[in-house]
Amino acid sequence: MSNRFSTVIPSWLVCLFTEFHVLAADVPFRFTALTRSCVVIPCTFQYPEHVPLTRGIWSKKTGGVIFHKGQSRVLDHFKGRTKILGDLSKGNCTLEIDNIKSFDNGPFCFHAERGNDKYRFNNSCVFIVMKASPATPVMTPVPTEVDAGSTITVSCSVMHTCSSHPPEFSWSVSNVTSKVTDTSTEQGIWERTSTITFMVTGRDGVHSLTCTATFWRGKQQASSVELTVKVLIIIILAAVFGVVICRKR
Ligand SMILES: *[C@@H]1O[C@H](CO)[C@@H](O)[C@H](O)[C@H]1NC(C)=O
Ligand SMILES: *[C@@H]1O[C@H](CO)[C@@H](O)[C@H](O)[C@H]1NC(C)=O
Ligand SMILES: *[C@@H]1O[C@H](CO)[C@@H](O)[C@H](O)[C@H]1NC(C)=O
Repeated sequence: MSNRFSTVIPSWLVCLFTEFHVLAADVPFRFTALTRSCVVIPCTFQYPEHVPLTRGIWSKKTGGVIFHKGQSRVLDHFKGRTKILGDLSKGNCTLEIDNIKSFDNGPFCFHAERGNDKYRFNNSCVFIVMKASPATPVMTPVPTEVDAGSTITVSCSVMHTCSSHPPEFSWSVSNVTSKVTDTSTEQGIWERTSTITFMVTGRDGVHSLTCTATFWRGKQQASSVELTVKVLIIIILAAVFGVVICRKR
């Protein structure tokens, strides 16, 4: 019904009833994304006259809708890949773009509507910088020489911008449980850390310890350190003497 209306009424007349508002928003000017993974772009805005906005829209600065509740309005290229994760009624317009393509750079801008009223915002556009490979995990230092049987604790951290699907860690140590923590380093940029504690076993020699971060949709990046394991001579001697003493009895 309302569709029919707008085809009958000339657009200049619709404009007479449309009110434009400009309010303040906070979106990073530039944001990094890992291609094929997802990106969660932080966005907050001032809400108008204490009446919450319910129709939040993200568009290319040059035109073309990339997120709208009505899927038919969305450009084919972005259909099913964009979502507002934020609670619009609380002034949160945080956007997720999934399965990022290398040319999804934007700039993308947030705007909103309520009835015939249209809302534009300051600082509401983001330019996305693409990275083809993920950040390298950083491992905490480990002693270069360790005694077999001793316990060591090591952590591995990696930065990402896909807070809705954070990276998962795996370790080259079998059967170990890890503790995972997430910290936000700056607006929308996250660091995930995995910490393990394990007992060094095995024979004398150099062993490598690897942590691998697997990012959303499969890209991986690993980091390794070398551990030189020393089997304590005293233990061997004690065992040998023990055997000798036992035999003598
Ligand atoms: C938007 O930005 C302009 C220029 O920086 C400023 O003059 C204006 O007051 C801002 N508007 C709001 C609603 O913050
Ligand atoms: C906005 O919403 C996102 C997604 O739910 C959330 O992670 C973020 O903390 C919210 N930001 C603020 C300022 O509340
Ligand atoms: C893994 O841990 C469980 C329980 O701690 C233990 O029963 C099992 O033998 C361990 N497996 C390996 C391969 O070390």
